[in-house]
Amino acid sequence: KRPAGAPPKELAKKVQKVGVIGAGLMAGQFALLFARKLRVPVVITDLDQSRVDKGLAYINGEIDKLEQKGRLGADDANQVRALVSGTTDKSLFADCDWVIEAVFEELSVKQQVFAEIEPIIAETAVIATNTSSLSVEEIGANLAHPERLVGFHFFNPVAVMPLVEVVKVPSTDDETLATAMAVAKKLGKSAVITADRPGFVVNRLLAKVMGEAARALDEGTPLPVVERALAPIGLPMGPFELIDLVGWKVAAHVQDTMVAAFPERFYASPNLHAMADIEDPLVKNKFGKVEDLSRAAKK
Ligand code: CAA
Repeated sequence: KRPAGAPPKELAKKVQKVGVIGAGLMAGQFALLFARKLRVPVVITDLDQSRVDKGLAYINGEIDKLEQKGRLGADDANQVRALVSGTTDKSLFADCDWVIEAVFEELSVKQQVFAEIEPIIAETAVIATNTSSLSVEEIGANLAHPERLVGFHFFNPVAVMPLVEVVKVPSTDDETLATAMAVAKKLGKSAVITADRPGFVVNRLLAKVMGEAARALDEGTPLPVVERALAPIGLPMGPFELIDLVGWKVAAHVQDTMVAAFPERFYASPNLHAMADIEDPLVKNKFGKVEDLSRAAKK
């Protein structure tokens, strides 16, 4: 059955090479998924070689883990390793027919990335953004060919979370949408087509949970109480562990976007921003000891 709003799948274009702009954790996770599931060359890029190398090291480490667990046989692992490459030379993106960005969540940065890549790639190549809360239409506002623009929003951890939000903007044509749906399917994900609204669907809901958790903390509820409150109804992670997983800066940014869009409905916690500014990963990652966070948040 065709998913709601999806054009006929016959319209999907072939994807034979993938370009990933950004070599951070999110980009690394889905670059690996593209190589594993589509079995096409995947090239990643970032601002400098050290970032690219770090991204490649992460991807190769994950391939090693998959091989050790027996999730990938030796031949498959070698094939996937050989498919992923990294460069600072964007001209190597020229023959990509699917380009997706996961750079810093700042409108001007993302627009700049698209302005640089569009003249290099074919007019028909799909341009996707993994933005979690910015307007896809605004990110692509200066594209010469906005008909190939689409949002393609993964969830953390990418290898495990079964959903992709495919964000359609008014300019997105049916071929692009069909391609995005086909790519999501090949990646083993369920795709939902969402409108280009702040937070799309998932972050609109999650930002509410995270914001209310932060508000409860700000009002004096002990952090362990807030953190464990939803465990009995089966949520796999407490709200702060989830924030830690997606990244404090990302979470604070999502909150800000939602507050800006719906000031009467969302809450921006000063503590969320304070945590986003703390660099110490030991404080942030010890969610076995949520009390640590409580102390850090009061600093
Ligand atoms: N990368 C790759 N694989 C991972 C992983 C990661 N970061 N984290 C876990 N996994 C894999 C594990 O390797 C394991 O795989 P195997 O079965 O092959 O061993 C599998 O996932 C299950 O992991 P665990 O048994 O260690 O852990 P768990 O049962 O406690 O589950 C979890 C971990 C899947 C992350 C679970 O806690 C969960 O679903 N948490 C909620 C995550 C969530 O809601 N994500 C959405 C965040 S919102 C977002 O990302 C959008 C945004 O824009 C902000």
